[in-house]
Amino acid sequence: MKTIALVGCGRVSARHVEAIADTKCVQIAMVCDKIEERAKALGEKLGVPYLTDYRQIKGVDVISVLTPSGLHPRHVSNIAELTDAPYIVCEKPLSLTLREAYEVYRRVEKAGKVLLPVYQNRYNPLVKMIKDLIDSGQLGRIYQFGCNAYWNRNDDYFKIDWHGTAEFDGGVLYTQASHYVDMLHFFFGELEDHKGIGGSLRNLDVYDTVSAVMRFRSGVIGTLSTTVSVYKTNYLTEFTLIAEKGTIRLSGTNLNKIDFWNVEGMEKPDMDFTINHQYGKGHDTMYQYIADERWEMFPSKEDVLSGIGMMEKLSY
Ligand SMILES: NC(=O)c1ccc[n+]([C@@H]2O[C@H](COP(=O)([O-])OP(=O)(O)OC[C@H]3O[C@@H](n4cnc5c(N)ncnc54)[C@H](O)[C@@H]3O)[C@@H](O)[C@H]2O)c1
Repeated sequence: MKTIALVGCGRVSARHVEAIADTKCVQIAMVCDKIEERAKALGEKLGVPYLTDYRQIKGVDVISVLTPSGLHPRHVSNIAELTDAPYIVCEKPLSLTLREAYEVYRRVEKAGKVLLPVYQNRYNPLVKMIKDLIDSGQLGRIYQFGCNAYWNRNDDYFKIDWHGTAEFDGGVLYTQASHYVDMLHFFFGELEDHKGIGGSLRNLDVYDTVSAVMRFRSGVIGTLSTTVSVYKTNYLTEFTLIAEKGTIRLSGTNLNKIDFWNVEGMEKPDMDFTINHQYGKGHDTMYQYIADERWEMFPSKEDVLSGIGMMEKLSY
């Protein structure tokens, strides 16, 4: 049994609580939030001790850092140095700058700890299936892709504490579309060339809208367009892949549906799934990998750093 402490009892903590409850051989041993009422409410609900200072966490196997994005580097590094937990999960994004990401790894490694960044979209079965098809060569040469994430975050959302700030949020690429930026990096590797435009059309500190065109080292060309300014509700998440031996289009709220399939020698797989929350599938798989000690299923340091570098490049 792996014991886990959650640091940060805000919105996404509910997803972690649910994913851990659905997974055998992991359990929450304590929770922590600097806002005492939040820590107390979650601690009492789960029947575990609560703290307001993460430095006092002792005796757990894993600490999951679920605090605002811009605070991840500080919190992960401090937790590595000041607690005895050998493993640290960090919600996305690990940092808002590449410089800080290097620094986090330096401090975590010096403290002899292991960092487990959350990239749950990589465990989405449809995303994993496409990755396997690309890597196995079954699709032949990959020519082009289009990825769109058109979402709504209303003005009230941007009034909530850290949302929409340059220091803690980073904007649409970091906070909403980060899973799709990571997916392109996961599929296609190193970015070679790119051009794009980002805009703060709603006068936020950060970009709410970005459109970019890019070429990867492998030659693949494609576009990413994303916004949080769709009228009223989330509209669309889609990914189209054009390859020598096939065309595939995924869509659905979280790329949970294959809505076009024409692949040489392969029937459309029956893999669509439904999802009853907004966070994308994969947190449960991540905790299963922790329970099974399958650390190799987490992205490597080189992979994470190169992905954060790509995010920085696309931030215009
Ligand atoms: N993987 C995903 O799909 C996904 C989805 C949503 C959010 N996230 C990420 O999760 C993180 C948290 O998002 P959220 O929506 O839950 O934010 P939130 O603001 O609702 O919660 C953050 C919590 O951290 C607490 N906190 C801040 N500083 C602290 C400290 N020093 N010690 C203890 N607690 C502290 C805050 O009091 C707050 O309760 C963000 O980085 C976000 O990008 C990931």
